[in-house]
Amino acid sequence: MSKIAHKKLRTLFADFWKKNGHKEVPPISLVPFDDPTTLFTGSGMQQLVPFLLGNPHPLGKRLYNIQRCLRSQDIDEVGDNRHTTFFEMMGNWSLGDYFKKEQLNWFFSFLVDILGIDPKRLYVSVFAGDKEYGLERDDESIDIWRGIFKKYGITAELGERIFVYPAEKNWWSRAGVPSSMPLNEPGGPDSEVFYKFDVKHNPSFGAKCHPNCDCGKFLEIGNSVFMQYLKTKKGFVPLPNKNVDFGGGLERILAATCNQPDIFLTDLYSEIIKAISKVSGRNYTDNTETIRVIADHIKASVFLVKDGVLPSNKEQGYVLRRLLRRSAMKMHKLKGDFKPSDFDLLVNSVLLTYDDVYFNVEKDLDNIQKIINNELTKFKQALERGLKKVEKISNITGKTAFDLYQNYGFPLELTEEIFKEKGQIINRDEFYREFNHHKEISRKGSISKFKGGLADKSKDTVRYHTATHLLHQALFDVLGDSVRQEGSNITAERLRFDFYSLNSPTTENIKKVEAIVNKKIKEDLKVCFKIINKEEALKIGAKAFFKAKYPDKVKVYFITKDCDKIKNSYSKEFCGGPHVDRTSEIGSIKIYKFKKIGSNTYRIYAR
Ligand code: ALA
Repeated sequence: MSKIAHKKLRTLFADFWKKNGHKEVPPISLVPFDDPTTLFTGSGMQQLVPFLLGNPHPLGKRLYNIQRCLRSQDIDEVGDNRHTTFFEMMGNWSLGDYFKKEQLNWFFSFLVDILGIDPKRLYVSVFAGDKEYGLERDDESIDIWRGIFKKYGITAELGERIFVYPAEKNWWSRAGVPSSMPLNEPGGPDSEVFYKFDVKHNPSFGAKCHPNCDCGKFLEIGNSVFMQYLKTKKGFVPLPNKNVDFGGGLERILAATCNQPDIFLTDLYSEIIKAISKVSGRNYTDNTETIRVIADHIKASVFLVKDGVLPSNKEQGYVLRRLLRRSAMKMHKLKGDFKPSDFDLLVNSVLLTYDDVYFNVEKDLDNIQKIINNELTKFKQALERGLKKVEKISNITGKTAFDLYQNYGFPLELTEEIFKEKGQIINRDEFYREFNHHKEISRKGSISKFKGGLADKSKDTVRYHTATHLLHQALFDVLGDSVRQEGSNITAERLRFDFYSLNSPTTENIKKVEAIVNKKIKEDLKVCFKIINKEEALKIGAKAFFKAKYPDKVKVYFITKDCDKIKNSYSKEFCGGPHVDRTSEIGSIKIYKFKKIGSNTYRIYAR
């Protein structure tokens, strides 16, 4: 088997799915613009939820892409041979088109026939069923797998080649197992493929090794989710379509292709690790775990900055800050100190690795380096003062941890790590009590989202989402054509809307905007959508989000008296949904805060 470079793997993957009738869905930013329920894009399917629920996708029923993802909730797992916060997911989807048989055959054939992986190294798992929810064992997939292995001359016995696991391992939804799923969330049984390396089993992970053992011998390289159920009050009901949602980590598939159990030793990390070794003077073999953490965190940070995130104390910015500070701390440990400029070379190595895929080194380098260097320079100063303070703390409390956070910029998790080494645990509740007391961030709006994954698609969130469309149009009505949406963030408690306007809004203007929105709510307008060509959508004046890249066919939401006369709609906007059916469902809104956040840029809060 020959080694494949990551750039080659990308082409092979795209060609394979295109050949099988799939269209590429443009990948979205790491910060999902249209999904108020989560901080980061954590899987390729995230932008496809409305379509898995049954809405027709503008590009058809067969889709694929490579989606950059961030799972900040995995931060503590980084350090072994395969976990990272940032990764790329190779995905393909069937929206009510093909199902289990084609999917399992195709993915296996991609691995073996296209990538040249030895089929004897591949093992698979299927869903064991769940009595509580009346879900059956996936015997159909077992049969399909038997047939596939047979084609390659391999006898596939249960418990030897095909493994059956319960929902914890072989059920997938954005919220996890069936019992953790909120109502109206889609999910389904899944089937995973694992690659077996020539690594000795480590008995500290259990007496017998098996695909889901964590010793590092087996690596999960792809997950075919049979997205066919919706959770309802009455249990699981079939979705309008039987869909396939496939995702496989590009880093992992590459590692399998190179028969390399350590993903950090593939060409997706080699430049970065070289750079870390160079600036620290330490080698990878003796400092494996620390160097893996720095490599992951700095890569994730570079991608976040690329997608417009700036270090801050809130939401995405807070995660970026935490990643940067954590990698600086690791560097500090590695070489006994760290210089902010050490990271210039690291940033450069990330851009070089993905040159032409995501970056243009010449164009992008300066800006990303500057943002990261600035943040680390500030942190370096605080760190020096903070570490002196830490030495004097004999017993850490939640309150002292908050003090370190507020005065020295130590994220809670960092303080936790420092004191864990001293055998001390911080009282998190006490920390958050202080935190909320100081009103730095609202616990409901942000902390719950730090956990990652799904917050909610509650009625209130959806109501506020429709309200932002009305607000957007009302701002145009009052302030004129220079208005441009800069971003929005919606929780079940309130909506936040950022916009650009050449005319600086007065208090009177804002009152008027609020009155217009409430008038439109009262008029009980209908909300409908259509999938049309992008050019046509722009021609009829649908508002697009200028930062987003749209495919040729787009979904446009209309707020209108008459869904058959959408040209006369009050609001027309490119959007994936979801929305209420009628504006009266919104209730009424009040703009309770308005401020300037940059030159010609403003922020509105309403509830
Ligand atoms: N959505 C599935 C996953 O993230 C494929 O594993």
